[in-house]
Parts: sequence; C-alpha cells; structure tokens
Amino acid sequence: MKADALVLFGATGDLAKKKLFPALYDLEELNELDVEIFGVASSKWTQEVFRENVEAAIRARKPDADEKVLGKLLNEMQLLVGDYENPETFVQLAELIKDFKLPVIYLAIAPEHFAKITQGLASVGITKKARVVVEKPFGRDLESAIQLDSELKQVLPEDQIYRIDHYLGKEAVEDLLVFRFANTLFEPVWNRNYVSNIQITMAESFGIEGRGKFYDGVGATRDVLQNHILQVLTMLTMEPPISIGSEDMQNEKIKVLSAIRDIKAEDVVRGQYVGYLEEDGVADNSDTETFVAMKVFIDNWRWAGVPIYMRTGKKMPETVLEVLVEFKKPPRELFGRGNPNAVRFRLGAKDGVDISLLAKKPGTKLTTEEIDLTVEFVTEFGDRQGPYERLLRAAMLGDHFRFTRIDAVLHSWKILEDILKSPSRVHPYFEGTWGPEEAQDMVPGGWNPVGTQVED
Ligand code: BG6
Repeated sequence: MKADALVLFGATGDLAKKKLFPALYDLEELNELDVEIFGVASSKWTQEVFRENVEAAIRARKPDADEKVLGKLLNEMQLLVGDYENPETFVQLAELIKDFKLPVIYLAIAPEHFAKITQGLASVGITKKARVVVEKPFGRDLESAIQLDSELKQVLPEDQIYRIDHYLGKEAVEDLLVFRFANTLFEPVWNRNYVSNIQITMAESFGIEGRGKFYDGVGATRDVLQNHILQVLTMLTMEPPISIGSEDMQNEKIKVLSAIRDIKAEDVVRGQYVGYLEEDGVADNSDTETFVAMKVFIDNWRWAGVPIYMRTGKKMPETVLEVLVEFKKPPRELFGRGNPNAVRFRLGAKDGVDISLLAKKPGTKLTTEEIDLTVEFVTEFGDRQGPYERLLRAAMLGDHFRFTRIDAVLHSWKILEDILKSPSRVHPYFEGTWGPEEAQDMVPGGWNPVGTQVED
C-alpha cells in the first residue's frame, strides 16, 4: 500500500538539504509525490524560513527547477518545531498526522536518537500504522547494532523498518546483478576457476568536509566499508536468487555474507591523511582512519581462495567508485605476455562497464595489444534517477528490495568485529596519494590503476 504522508525528522539538517529535498523535487516532477510532508526539527524556524531553506536547497542542486513543481512541493510542506526528548513533540505530531492512514517516518538524524524517537512515536500510537526509515550507520559494532535492533523491535516489527544504505539505490550497483544474471556470457566464468582476484576501490578526492565531530567517532571502516562497500561486494559475489523478490534477494545476500571469513588485523592497513588532526571536531591524538584497505576471502565453493581487495579513503588522487574483476591468464601465453582480461564496473559519477581484452596487434607478428570495450551508461540510457529518489519511492511503496535486512547488518558487523575491537596502527599518508605505502604492497603486483572517472 502506498504511504499518504512523509514525516522527516532532521528536516533542517544536512542530509535533508543535500539529498532528500532535491530527491523529493524529482519525485514531484514525475508526479509521484502525492503525499503531505511534515518536517520535524529542533531549530526554531518559522514555516516561511523552513520553506525558504527547502527552496534554496533545491535550487542549489537544480538551477533549472520548474517553478510550478517547486511551488507545489513547497505548498505540501510544513515544519513542526520540537524537541525529540519532549513527549509533547510526539503528541503534536500525532495530532498533525491523525488523518493519515500510512505515514512514512524518515529519521534523517544522528543514530543515537533512533531508539528514543521510535519510542516517542510508539507512545502516541504512530508506530502502529507507520513505516520507519533509518539512516546509516546502524550501530557502531555488532553489539551496539544488536542493542539498537532490540530497542527498535520493542515497538516496531522488522517489516515496518527500512534501513537505508544509499548504495542500494544506485542504478550502477543494481546493474551488477543484471550484468551477471541476465548475460549467460559471464556467469560461467564468475568463479574461482577463472577469476584471479577482485579489487574494489571507493576513493574520494575530498576530506571530511566539516563533519569532523561525526567522522572522528566513526572512521572509514564504519562509515563506508561496513555498509556501502560490503553491499557492492555482496551484489558482485552472491549466488543467483530464486526470484528478484525482496525476501529471495535478502536470503541470498545473507548466504554470501556469512561465508566471508572474519577479517584479521594482518590483512588490514589503516591510514590517516596528514592534516586530519587539525580538522575541526577531531581529537588531538585521534587514531581514526580516513583510509582503510583490506584483503578478504569468501569461503564458499564459488570463491574459495580468490583474494578480494577493498580500499576506501578520503583525500585520494580522484573520486572513484569501481570494481575490477581480473581473470586468470590462459594456460599458455601463445602470443607473448599480456595483461590478463578484466571487467571493470564503474559505479560512480560516470558509470559504465569496461571489458579489457587482448587483440592482435597490427603487423606481421602475432602479438597482442590491450583494447577496452567500453560502455557509458549515460550515453546509452541518458540521465537516470538518483539513489535517494529511488529509495524514498521504495519506502513509500513499501518495497524492501533496496533496504538492508537486520541479519545482513549484523553479519557485516560480525565480519569486522575483530579489527574494530583491536584496530591495527594507523599510518599517515599525504593528500593526493593512494594511501599509505603499506597498502600498496597488499596486492601482489600492485593495485590495478583505476579507470577514467569524472566527478559530479
Ligand atoms: C556516506 C558517507 O554514507 O557516503 C560519506 O558518510 C561518503 O563519508 C558518502 O562521502 C559517499 O557517497 P557517494 O554516493 O557520493 O559515493
């Protein structure tokens, strides 16, 4: 059933400004947003100031915004100023939305408020009829994720909870499934017999962008590896699901996640960019990592023995999100030595797929030259919808396919449990490099150079 109201906690915050309001505009433009929107926030803004801020946020991302669409959206919005600690806020909210049958409550706020807010919602009966969307991170380790889950479950069953990982809303991440399971060409070679190694890179050329207070208590492993990167890995390595229904998908994801070997400190390199300690909100002696690289193995029949390397970092030479699947060399190199075949999935701003092959080099000799078969999705399909637009729509329609089920969240924390409990030392690296040198040596022969990317 489709939701008829959207309640946005954290409506004056950064996520709402940068991602959610522009996404709501997109849905409005498609005529898919026939809901009333209620912002909830502690900032004491008037309705006018709230609407002005929403408008400014949308215009900043969409300079060509259609005035009619924007006007309609702003008309559908109102703000409830309230303190999350004060029961009166929930009484007022209940009164505001009493005529709606199925509200979606989006918690775009710091995770420490999740439990308190859902309990507040329950105290006035809203959880009986609502879907609740929670942002990442869900916990900060296995124990706290279990704790948070049990607090939420006191008032909400699993099927009313929608855990966000916005990577699940990215078209190119979903394409990993389609590429693998819609093309018979690749599936037979997608295993330990043909794949020599996998490399996943999520690099960002920028730093922590004023989020020091949040980031310093989190670090790269918790901020993006536990969620975004493991989601990508799951899509890349899971078995074909029986159907693309949400439960069948989630069940397959769990199988592969539970086969990932617990990661040990010797397979991890943590780094911190030089200058991080001077950022606002960062502790003087912080050993929080702004870079992490690790080697993992999936102990199942398909992937046994295939090393999988993952790295992510801030202040890297470029902003890149990609997966490289490198194939083994043929048993005899008849035409001399050449680079092995590879498939590169570009999942970031300029998404697409490159397949690297060897072709005959022109001339009298039978030697090889590397060529790339390249597809740019934007050229093929034009602009596509952004992750938050797709996730908001899914939450309003009640489709769990693009959200994370609790067992997947717990498995991903479990894999990282040892290294979060006893983190290895953090190595410094300079801005504009690919992290500490120790991370370069992790991949025999070095990391494959990343493909050409364009920032948005
Ligand atoms: C967020 C992290 O979840 O994802 C940020 O908190 C990171 O640190 C961001 O920059 C990356 O998202 P995207 O979609 O730009 O790759």
